[in-house]
Amino acid sequence: MTVRPYPRRLASALTALAVCGGLAVTADAAQAAPRQVVPYSHLVPAPVTASQSGATFTLGPAARISAAGAAAEVGQYLASVLRPATGYPLPVDSRSSHAAGITLLLSGAGPELGDEGYRLEVTGNGVTLRANKPAGLFSGVQTLRQLFPASIDSGKRQRGPWQVQGGTISDAPRFAYRGAMLDVARHFFGVDAVKRYIDQLARYKVNTLHLHLTDDQGWRIAINSWPKLATYGGSTQVGGGKGGYYTQAQYRDLVAYAQSRFITVIPEMDMPGHTNAALASYAELNCNGVAPPLYTGTEVGFSSLCTGKDITYKFLDEVIGELAALTPGPYIHIGGDEAHSTTDADYKPFIARVQQIVAAHGKKALGWHDISKAALQPGTVGQFWGTGPTDANVQAAAAKGTHYVLSPANLAYLDMKYDASTKLGQNWAGYIEVRDSYNWNPGGYLTGVNASQVDGVEAPLWTETITSTADIDYMVFPRVAAIAELGWSPASTHNWDQFKVRLGSQAPRWKAQGVNYYASPQVPWAS
Ligand code: ACM
Repeated sequence: MTVRPYPRRLASALTALAVCGGLAVTADAAQAAPRQVVPYSHLVPAPVTASQSGATFTLGPAARISAAGAAAEVGQYLASVLRPATGYPLPVDSRSSHAAGITLLLSGAGPELGDEGYRLEVTGNGVTLRANKPAGLFSGVQTLRQLFPASIDSGKRQRGPWQVQGGTISDAPRFAYRGAMLDVARHFFGVDAVKRYIDQLARYKVNTLHLHLTDDQGWRIAINSWPKLATYGGSTQVGGGKGGYYTQAQYRDLVAYAQSRFITVIPEMDMPGHTNAALASYAELNCNGVAPPLYTGTEVGFSSLCTGKDITYKFLDEVIGELAALTPGPYIHIGGDEAHSTTDADYKPFIARVQQIVAAHGKKALGWHDISKAALQPGTVGQFWGTGPTDANVQAAAAKGTHYVLSPANLAYLDMKYDASTKLGQNWAGYIEVRDSYNWNPGGYLTGVNASQVDGVEAPLWTETITSTADIDYMVFPRVAAIAELGWSPASTHNWDQFKVRLGSQAPRWKAQGVNYYASPQVPWAS
């Protein structure tokens, strides 16, 4: 697909009108309340093609949403996100012809849009959204939300008019894997905090949530066959707080909530290192048969599962079996990072065996790129977290066909400080200002890894220093929008000077949502 530049004449005419700041709503839709019409050039992530017309659609109090069959669920979701601020009833039904409404159709989209792409058409009379799959309608709904005035994102009723710039958008993702990771092990975050994060990610077309469920400081998912993992191993966190864990019912609820937002949850059980919480819970998992104390510090690399013991593999088979049963998605993340207390001679056969266990439970393994030094099965994916583009083990695995998800720590880690004045976060991989998080090309980053072997990008948030939802917000926004755009938008749209303006236009939306974002001096924030 090609990128058609937005008609500059129209965009500048809108800007000129916006500067005049007329408040009156006139009968002429093209001139009505121009300060509130969002230009297509403000969308994040940038769409593949977008072309504005002279028309404006106004969502009125009698508007209906038409969504039949498999489109109905997305129609209900759209109504649910538009109702609070508009105060309109927005009934959802399957009637296909009605005036002044929004129509969602699973037909006529075109095969080039794939499963997640969509085509959005806005005329003076209505909005028509077409896709091949509900996931594509959901992507289009996120675009449509951003085309309403920012006050649409408020949870309370706001004044209209609810106008949308007319035109056509055709859009589909660059990468299939567009992820974010939340470390719920170093500090535990409950179901509501994770659901809030899921809703934030969905707005930027992120489709994968990787949950780092286990680490030295805590085990956060109930495992029926090894109950002390959660009840004892989950009983604390960094700094010695009370920790916590998800029951399996809570976890299923989270996974279902994510699914309803077309987000796949990938559970990570980190191993063979980062396992102190498990080793503390069951003495028999330790080579010396002695359980270490729980750990609430932030060192890494001191723990290891006992790779030579049979019970280690019974343990892994049972834990991975329960995780697989809770996981509709294709991947179980096996960690594999920073196994500094496991020799290579132990590590390599261990990773080989764990991949077999994952496969026996019907899943594929994903692991931090450290696993590249072991023999990887076809279908196992590495997650690159290094700080430079060249890694001999990654190159060798890629030469044999391994695919990678990219999370370079100095570009994509959301726990790195923005600059020396940032209070939260770490700086071992450097400072990551917004521009740094945006200015790289995932498809061409890793030496020896072809673009076709890059499944996508992921922005991890480690939580050694992160203790609240406000902390999550501050480190995540605005950088997660940059990584999400790298995952979704064609490389041909990459342009910092344009991106920073689009990103700046998100600020009123974040304010309306109560998001505690970092107001980087690099970005011209809209007020
Ligand atoms: C990592 O940051 N240890 C994956």
